Amino acid sequence: MKYCCLLGLLWLAGCTQNKEMNTTHLYAEPYRPQVHFSPKKSWMNDPNGMVYLNNVWHLFFQYYPDSTVWGPMHWGHATSKDLVHWTEQPVALYPDSIGYIFSGSIVADLNNSSRFGKDGQVPLVALFTQHDPKGEKQGRVDFQNQSIAYSVDEGKTWTKYSRNPVLKNPGSKDFRDPKIMWYEKGKKWIMTLATKDRVSFYTSTDLTQWSKASEFGESLGAHGGVWECPDLFSMNDQGKTIWVLLVSINPGGPQGGSATQYFTGDFDGTRFTTSQTETKWIDQGTDNYAGITWSNTGSRKIFLGWMSNWQYAQAVPTIQWRSAMTIPRELTIAQINGAYYLQSFPVKELAAIEENGITENNLTRADKKLQGPAKLRFVLRAIENFSVTLLNTKGEKWIAGYDKNTDQYYIDRTASGNINFEKGFARKIFSKRISTDSVMDITLLIDDASIEFFADKGTNTLTSIFFPNEKYSTVKIEGGNQFRIDSLAFTPLKSIWIKNSVSEK
Ligand code: FRU
Repeated sequence: MKYCCLLGLLWLAGCTQNKEMNTTHLYAEPYRPQVHFSPKKSWMNDPNGMVYLNNVWHLFFQYYPDSTVWGPMHWGHATSKDLVHWTEQPVALYPDSIGYIFSGSIVADLNNSSRFGKDGQVPLVALFTQHDPKGEKQGRVDFQNQSIAYSVDEGKTWTKYSRNPVLKNPGSKDFRDPKIMWYEKGKKWIMTLATKDRVSFYTSTDLTQWSKASEFGESLGAHGGVWECPDLFSMNDQGKTIWVLLVSINPGGPQGGSATQYFTGDFDGTRFTTSQTETKWIDQGTDNYAGITWSNTGSRKIFLGWMSNWQYAQAVPTIQWRSAMTIPRELTIAQINGAYYLQSFPVKELAAIEENGITENNLTRADKKLQGPAKLRFVLRAIENFSVTLLNTKGEKWIAGYDKNTDQYYIDRTASGNINFEKGFARKIFSKRISTDSVMDITLLIDDASIEFFADKGTNTLTSIFFPNEKYSTVKIEGGNQFRIDSLAFTPLKSIWIKNSVSEK
């Protein structure tokens, strides 16, 4: 008996130890992002329901817990106190008889207009698309409808509304991804919905009854694919209100596959209007899709996207999980050559994981050892050709740079490592520089399997994922004869998962 107990205890100790080892191992797998959110296991796509409430940042996401490829969609959930460290929470929404839980948004219903709040609690109200796979199979067109769920315990548990769906399909195969905002001037809620090749706006005073207000975009912007995941919000440019409409599109992105375009203009509570003629992209790289902004953040606008591309997302060589999110980015707006452009840049909260770095001035080239995630910023004295190369001892490399002749930034991942999982993955991509600045100010956020490249205060942003067969260990910056780096800051970043690996039960 005694012996049995001892054996039992040893077994228990073994289990605990194994669990710790497993958890540590989990966040240290090859290609596991160290400063970006990724789910512990399984498939993830779009960010959903991003809302800030009582000092907690909520991130919900398209999630299929049973596989590493897309399937019946749930809403996964993660929370953060600082926008940097994330704790994964239980799955928030499961598919039901109305359908899978597709993309959507959450608002904090501060005035309890929905009457879902009890005893003074602020209800969180989620609006999302329910996609009925049976209806789709039967060849119906009305298989996407909008439903509601609410939470009165700050997002811990969710109740689906008994009268779902609240917005029925008028007869369109593409009728999805509601993003809700409060329009203070007209004291009403606005739903921005992706409806095939345009956006449709609906309004409501109680979040449950919706009337159609207008449509936008049938003949504007990029139309190489279906419109998805829109977001409408206002920004401030020196006292002037500028409205921004984000619209993701798949395929038809500037680099192939999926990407997110945006329009700047005006919104009067009913209609969105713009004088914009050219197509603008929030990120000119390959890997930033379905991004939207957090709600309930006051005048701050914080954006985050899915760091992948539908062209190859389901084939990337990760094992336990698939896909990560971009870093949360602060959005600002600026006028360049008479037109408004969105600028995106990593949130200031990232400073929490910055370690002591190196700053140097007046260099003709730079060569740094990479020992984990890092932030690299360099400023050139003039507009010049340059290249930044990450490489490993196997000779695999990822290159970003600028070509003065064509005035284009580029990213070349043709020799970046494992590239064979999809034939279009390894192309060299180019993007016209939009800026009137006479110096070049570049920031790279380097993680184990991604780089976010921010140039010209985030007006030109390129996100790129990669899968080297051995971690990149060096980063080099080079240029031509006249090349001078005015200043350089190399800042190692701490892994955001270290906390989890010790404290997780
Ligand atoms: C965008 C998207 C959305 C849809 C969801 C399904 O990536 O296709 O339009 O709601 O993904 O997972």
